[in-house]
Amino acid sequence: MIFDDLKETYPHFVNVASYLESASPLFMEGPLRQLRDSAPDYAFAEKLCRDAYALCDGAEEKVFELASTMIEFSMEFVFLQRKLEKSGRYLYATFKEVEEQVYNDPERGLNGAPYMWALYFTQAFWVTHGRVWTFFLRDFATAAAPHGNLLEVPSGNGLFTAHFLLKNPGWRGVALDLSDTSIQFTDRVLSLNGIRARVEVRKEDFFRFAGTHKFGRIICGEFLEHVEEPLRVLARLRTLVEPDGRLFLTAAVWAANIDHIYLYKSAEEVRAHIRASGFAIEREFPQNVFLDGRPDQEKTPINYSAILRPV
Ligand SMILES: C[S@@+](CC[C@H](N)C(=O)[O-])C[C@H]1O[C@@H](n2cnc3c(N)ncnc32)[C@H](O)[C@@H]1O
Repeated sequence: MIFDDLKETYPHFVNVASYLESASPLFMEGPLRQLRDSAPDYAFAEKLCRDAYALCDGAEEKVFELASTMIEFSMEFVFLQRKLEKSGRYLYATFKEVEEQVYNDPERGLNGAPYMWALYFTQAFWVTHGRVWTFFLRDFATAAAPHGNLLEVPSGNGLFTAHFLLKNPGWRGVALDLSDTSIQFTDRVLSLNGIRARVEVRKEDFFRFAGTHKFGRIICGEFLEHVEEPLRVLARLRTLVEPDGRLFLTAAVWAANIDHIYLYKSAEEVRAHIRASGFAIEREFPQNVFLDGRPDQEKTPINYSAILRPV
């Protein structure tokens, strides 16, 4: 097994990695070797996996079952990406369609995105996501002031809020998401990390969020591609950030997913929205999802992340 020699130091990470490797050698061996070669942040990956065990009350079969949703998620990406290459569009074009066909699908029996656990494990096992976390922890989660207010929209599984607040004990947060699935996930991750009391968790549509004060740090991860008018999101966030505040943004470009709506065809199109909404790019980190591809090409999957300041 690829990570066996690290078992003593990172036992939870190695257990999950070994499970993934044996459950689907065809699909997982290559990515896990790439991960090893990328010298990931093992301490961070171990914490995510250790927390997953805690969230499953130590039941390893449950952890493995949830980790296996990442394999299905990756396979679905390959399938939907091929469709995108052929059709030049995502599966759905409106939020109403996604709501009816995906979020409220009675077969799935949940209200919200069906892949939240898959997304959780990608943070530990996808090279690109791991690198976004290094960027986030090193360049963003180091707050300028000892005290302040954080906003995360949407909070998804709550990981960004949790890790920001763990690094910044004097800060408080608002974590907002539309779906029950994500709100419950956020709640559990914050509670596990002992910071639930420092966060106001709001189940709310961001387009209805009134927001009575401004925030020193805002996190907006993988949201723009989930809405019909991403420029409206950025423009609203611009009104919510303090004059010397910062926004951490990630966005998917030309990368298919069951609930992606707005199709960015290049990183340049995201930059155009950033500028149009009154933000400037302080630092950015565009990555091609195919690690040997270029991040500046059109119509190739890009994981875009950036730290923005208001202008
Ligand atoms: C791909 S997840 C991103 C989660 C997290 N930000 C991350 O980067 O891991 C997209 C999230 O957007 C939420 N969402 C979609 N439309 C929303 C809206 N109008 N207001 C608030 N949340 C929304 C979904 O419920 C889901 O949790």
